[in-house]
Amino acid sequence: MADLDDIRDGDNFGLNTPADTSAFYLKGMNSASWGIKNRMSRIFNRDSGRTVMLAFDHGFLMGPTSGLERIDLNIAPLAEEADCLMGCRGMIRTCIPAENTKPICLRTDSGTTILTEMNHNVLISEQDAIGMNVSAMAAMLAIGDADTEASTIANFSRLVDIGNKYSIPVMGVTAVGKDMTRDSRYFGLASRVCAENGASIVKTYYTEGFENVVAACPVPVVIAGGKKLPELEALELCYKAIQCGASGVDMGRNVFQSEAPLAMMKAVKAVVHNNATPAEAFDLFNTLKNEN
Ligand code: 5RP
Repeated sequence: MADLDDIRDGDNFGLNTPADTSAFYLKGMNSASWGIKNRMSRIFNRDSGRTVMLAFDHGFLMGPTSGLERIDLNIAPLAEEADCLMGCRGMIRTCIPAENTKPICLRTDSGTTILTEMNHNVLISEQDAIGMNVSAMAAMLAIGDADTEASTIANFSRLVDIGNKYSIPVMGVTAVGKDMTRDSRYFGLASRVCAENGASIVKTYYTEGFENVVAACPVPVVIAGGKKLPELEALELCYKAIQCGASGVDMGRNVFQSEAPLAMMKAVKAVVHNNATPAEAFDLFNTLKNEN
C-alpha cells in the first residue's frame, strides 16, 4: 500500500541532462530488441528523431464522427504525408490500400462506445496485429478512473508481454480520468505508469509544465491534439510540446477536421520535423490551403 499521506511531488527532473541515446537515436531504447528498434525506426524519422502519426481510431468509440465519415476518402489521401497511421483493424483493412508502406500503429483495445460506460476495454487478438504487419500496437490506460484503471493497466501489461514476445513496440494512450485535473502532475503520473509498465511510446496531452512530463518519461512521448482548435492554436500546441521535448504528435481531429487536412498535415510536419514556428507553419498552411 502506498503511503498516501506522504507522496512528495518530484522537483528535480534533470532538464539540462538529456537521456543517453548514444546506442540508439531514440530515448529509452538502448536495451530494446533488434525488432523493436527496427519498428521504432519505421515510425520515428531518423534525422529529426520525431514522428507525425495520423490518428483515426476515433470511430471505434464514436462512430462516423466529422472528418471520418469515409476513411477511404478522408484519411487514405493523407497517408503519404504521415509518418505512421494509427487506427483500428477493420478500418485499416477496408479503407487503407494494402499497398500502403507507411507503418501502422494498431489500436489494439476495444470494447466500449460513447453510448455506454467507457473504458471497459479488452484486447483484440495479437494474431491480427502480426498478420497486419504492424509497427506498433496501442492500448489505452484510464489512470484515475476508479472503475477501469486496474483493468486497463492489466490489459496494457498483457499487451506489452505480447509486444515483447514478437518485438512489437507498444504505445500507451493516456485517457483522461473524469475526476482528474488535467495538469502536469496528472499527465506526468499517467505517462510514467505507461513507461513503468513497459511502453515503448507514450501518447498523452500537452499541458503547462510539459517539460517535466517528458523528462520523467524515459521513452518517446507524442501528444494527442484533442478537440478541434483553430489551426494556428493547434500549431502552437504542437510547437510548445516539441519545445518541451516531445517526440512528435499522434494527431487526429486537428488534422482531419481542418478545413484543409492535407495542408494541415504539412504544417504540422514543418513544426515537428523542421522546428518551424507556429507563425511560419500557419503561413505554410494558408499558402497550401489556397493552392488546393
Ligand atoms: C483517446 C485518443 C484517441 O485514440 C485519438 O487518437 C485522439 O486523437 P486526437 O485527440 O488528436 O483527435 O487518444 O483515446
